[in-house]
Amino acid sequence: MRSQIAAANWKMNLDFKQGKQLIEEIISQEPTPEAGKKVVFAVPALYIRSARKKVKNNPGYSVSAQNIYHKKSGAFTGEISAEMVASVGAEYVIIGHSERREYFNETNGILAEKINLALENNLTPIFCCGESLPTREAGTQNEFVAGQISESLFHLSAEQVLKIVIAYEPIWAIGTGKTATAEQAQQMHHWLRQVLAKKYGQPIADQISILYGGSVKGSNAQEIFSQPDVDGGLVGGASLVASEFVTIIRALKKSV
Ligand code: PGA
Repeated sequence: MRSQIAAANWKMNLDFKQGKQLIEEIISQEPTPEAGKKVVFAVPALYIRSARKKVKNNPGYSVSAQNIYHKKSGAFTGEISAEMVASVGAEYVIIGHSERREYFNETNGILAEKINLALENNLTPIFCCGESLPTREAGTQNEFVAGQISESLFHLSAEQVLKIVIAYEPIWAIGTGKTATAEQAQQMHHWLRQVLAKKYGQPIADQISILYGGSVKGSNAQEIFSQPDVDGGLVGGASLVASEFVTIIRALKKSV
């Protein structure tokens, strides 16, 4: 059985008060997601502690960091470690979002280090992968995304890989309003599960949640989430609007 997850990626949006209000509104409309369904707020790091307090009486809700640094500690002015975000109540961390790969030059190797630090600190990594438009147009998206997964995750043991959540986010669909079709999402998710099964065996692959991200909104969530290998979504823009995100939470299917 794998969890169905609606993860909100706020990115660099909302001030502190707006963030608190948004969580309050969402929780008041959807206080307890059904068993097996999880809701994760990936908030700016300095809101983690307060967000954690807001959700702590609502089972099913968790808080995530959006990033961690790839070193344990030390002279890295301005950076935030896995240990730090865990110590203020984060339970998840997004690793390898395409914006971090693109604007902050995060390589698959750096992301492997981040994955290790996240796991050492009992954080569940939400590992993002996804191809650019030229890669999709060239028809090489499957190999590309499999490469991202193998280079950042395949050093893990089976026991460790079970602690990972994967988010497939085609770059051409992020913030563009252009969603992958439900069929395109299913094809890639199925392929990723095969890639994981080849390395770790089918029973392990069947337990790993694979989320879809890229212009998920209230009106398309149900169709995308209904696909057999899609286990929820990583949501940017629509997660900033309470009513939209509540609709997305409600669109999660029952755990499979
Ligand atoms: P979007 O972003 O929902 O605004 O497309 C998704 C993401 O970047 O995680």
